[in-house]
Amino acid sequence: MRCLDNDFKGNGIFKIDNKTIFVPGILKGEEVELIKNKHYELKKVINPSPDRVNVICPSFYHCGGCQYLHINYAKEINLKKEYIKKLFNLSDIDIIPTTPEFYRNKIQYVVEFKGGLSFGLYREGTHDFLKVNKCYLHNEVLDEIANYLKELLIKYKIKPYDKKTRQGLIKYVLLKGNKDMSEVLVTVVLNDYILPKRKDIIKDLTNKYENIKTIIENYNFRDTSIILGEENKIIYGTGFIKDEILNNKFLVGSDTFYQINHEGVEKLYSKALSTLKLNKNMNIIDAYSGVGTIGIIASKSVKSVISIELNKNSIYIAKQNAKLNKVNNINFICGDATSKLYELAKNKIKVDAIIMDPPRQGSTKGFIKSINELKIKNVLYISCEPETLKRDLEEFNKYGYELKHISCVDMFPRTFNIESIVLLTHKE
Ligand SMILES: C[S@@+](CC[C@H](N)C(=O)[O-])C[C@H]1O[C@@H](n2cnc3c(N)ncnc32)[C@H](O)[C@@H]1O
Repeated sequence: MRCLDNDFKGNGIFKIDNKTIFVPGILKGEEVELIKNKHYELKKVINPSPDRVNVICPSFYHCGGCQYLHINYAKEINLKKEYIKKLFNLSDIDIIPTTPEFYRNKIQYVVEFKGGLSFGLYREGTHDFLKVNKCYLHNEVLDEIANYLKELLIKYKIKPYDKKTRQGLIKYVLLKGNKDMSEVLVTVVLNDYILPKRKDIIKDLTNKYENIKTIIENYNFRDTSIILGEENKIIYGTGFIKDEILNNKFLVGSDTFYQINHEGVEKLYSKALSTLKLNKNMNIIDAYSGVGTIGIIASKSVKSVISIELNKNSIYIAKQNAKLNKVNNINFICGDATSKLYELAKNKIKVDAIIMDPPRQGSTKGFIKSINELKIKNVLYISCEPETLKRDLEEFNKYGYELKHISCVDMFPRTFNIESIVLLTHKE
């Protein structure tokens, strides 16, 4: 059977019994044999495309975490370009590539019993546990530490949590590392306050890996898909690791947002800030600011920054980050971006530009309305979800904002996600 086309998610498109069928891991033009289980799946490639590469991960066809491991990276970038061009009706788009494997500085594994305590991932969109020892997106140092942690949990007979019986202790492990993995943070997510052999586990881990700078217990007693509970206990180190982005220092915590691709974030912030063109007379806002990263970097080129973020732990770390970088022209506001911007608009403060980097669901009509009321001339919108970006751009358009620039950074190679940078200017 011949694959007719590809969609942006790397699926091959087929016509079977007059129905359009999407099958992962197949390229346009390939002659293949399919097998029908729950869904159609690839059985055998009979005539491979010149863009096909050997799939390095044995879990690729079952996991769903990656969509593009079967094609060369140049082709992946092309598929992403086609998607963005079509979505935004552009004749061309620049996508800045990054290193396509081992880029994740944050990894998380589900812990379950599968012939013994095992680490793994849920198959995309399901709660089916898939045993995994190595992921080609994960930084290899983090996976090595995760595997050693698993050995220790087995050695000390720690019980994995069982969702059905609600018995057992350990639910997830989460590891984060800095740029060169000289500092690593380990979080174990537990269903109880007592981790047996805690002291031995800490000793074994930190003796073998001196780069483990902090270990945190997180307590999550709920049975939802949310990984982290609200309570933490630092059992080793300070609870933070230190990283550097574009020569600025940042503390990274366990439960606060931090960009997961270090090379990608440097490319993203460099491109974003050079597109916005800052100067020392400008007062700017950094909304959805996380731990203050882009606002702190930008603060060195402008008169003042107001940083707005919902998560109070992120604001706490952001304030530490400002001190670490000796920045004192930045103010932090903790709260919902829409209501805080509405208050600033009521007070008619003077703002020359705004940087906004909302989560996947995008921003709100109210937020965009307040930008217009504040008469902010330049809007730099960073987005990890092109569909909600498109929706929000249509809203900006109603107020007379024009698209001046759009480009992308491939922050999440091998997956169908892509980060966009957009500059909007008010027509006046
Ligand atoms: C995509 S992250 C960007 C963070 C930061 N700009 C960076 O590059 O690391 C989005 C951030 O928005 C925050 N957030 C989510 N909903 C929010 C809201 N309604 N108001 C303000 N911040 C919000 C999240 O906590 C998260 O830190």
